[in-house]
Amino acid sequence: MVSKEVIMTHISEREQELPDAVIGEIFRLTAEDKSIISLGPGQPDFPTPRPILDECKRAIYKATRYSSPGGVIELREALVKKLRKENNIKLGPENIIVTTGSQEAIFTAMLCTLDPAEEIIVPNPGYLAYIPAANLIHAVPVPLKLNEEDGFEVNPDELRKLINKKRTKVILINSPANPTGNVLKKRTLEEIAGIAREHDLYIFSDEAYERLTYGTKHVSIGSLNGMGDHVITFQTFSKTFSMCGFRVGYCAGPKKLMQAIEKAHHYLTLAAPHISQLLAIKALTIKKSYIEKMRKEYERRRNFLVERLNEIGLRTTLPKGAFYTFSNISEFSKDSTRFARDLLKKSRVAVIPGVEFGKFGEGYIRCSYATAYPMLEKATARIEKYLKKYDKSLRS
Ligand SMILES: Cc1ncc(COP(=O)(O)O)c(C=O)c1O
Repeated sequence: MVSKEVIMTHISEREQELPDAVIGEIFRLTAEDKSIISLGPGQPDFPTPRPILDECKRAIYKATRYSSPGGVIELREALVKKLRKENNIKLGPENIIVTTGSQEAIFTAMLCTLDPAEEIIVPNPGYLAYIPAANLIHAVPVPLKLNEEDGFEVNPDELRKLINKKRTKVILINSPANPTGNVLKKRTLEEIAGIAREHDLYIFSDEAYERLTYGTKHVSIGSLNGMGDHVITFQTFSKTFSMCGFRVGYCAGPKKLMQAIEKAHHYLTLAAPHISQLLAIKALTIKKSYIEKMRKEYERRRNFLVERLNEIGLRTTLPKGAFYTFSNISEFSKDSTRFARDLLKKSRVAVIPGVEFGKFGEGYIRCSYATAYPMLEKATARIEKYLKKYDKSLRS
């Protein structure tokens, strides 16, 4: 008798409602077609610094077991010193949970602070994982519009208007920002801190790009007076140390919340990869010059890219941090997905449509300068040619 094959097709509604990121499609196409220049990547193009990779050989023998769920104690102790010295945040190891990248930390923190139908205010345009993460736990992401005219700075008056006394629990900020490259001013952070204190809200401070700033200094909102009970700081080894593949990040904040996060994190992943945690300890000891060299090169690329994009007709604000430009394409198209697809097809240059970062990102494209300088030269020459012959029928 031939057994009947049963094809299971049930997928939860929750999952089906998740957006299909165009970014995934672009990465797939770029991997398949070598003639495409990709300005898509959200990860450094530099190798992980050599001393960290060399440590791998030694550390691997010590990393075959699970670490403690909250993270290797030596790493948490090293992070206490790092947060104190670099971010002026004074916390103990019990206030830190090491996670599988900072993305896991952000998701788990949402899980531990938001019940269904409660609200989290998120920057828009903003990092594309915020809205789906909130949706997955049936919380409500409330978009805070960031405007090009303000350099994509948070407007505290607009933020105030979004607070619902009963439902709002969290304000999420991201500085230096993906995709806009803005670095929030200390004055703005003070106003946001005041709002959080007044309404007794948590602030999630996503500082993934904290070390990548150009001509300005990153300030951690967790360092401001009176914010100890309010702020959860999210940082990562992915960007600063070019360690995306190792998947190691962390969050730091009030002890009671960290205990809750540790419990949920334990059920989700058990612990961050042990080997990556040992490499993270090493990363915190390497010479600053490794990081400074990468930062300087990003700055050189940024200067070139912003100048060229403006020159060829794509209005682009000078980003003060991270490694992205966010260009206004509204003169050419109101539909950033259509624009990006057409650019890819005709010019073999991949960029990310602004609408991927939320509805207020429509009318923009993101280019990543985690891309070698000669590639930026080639890509902008191709975009220039494309815009000169721009198909006017695509304008609407
Ligand atoms: C703003 C921002 N936050 C968090 C992350 C997640 O980084 P990771 O999980 O590698 O620490 C990213 C990744 O691109 C990001 O751009």
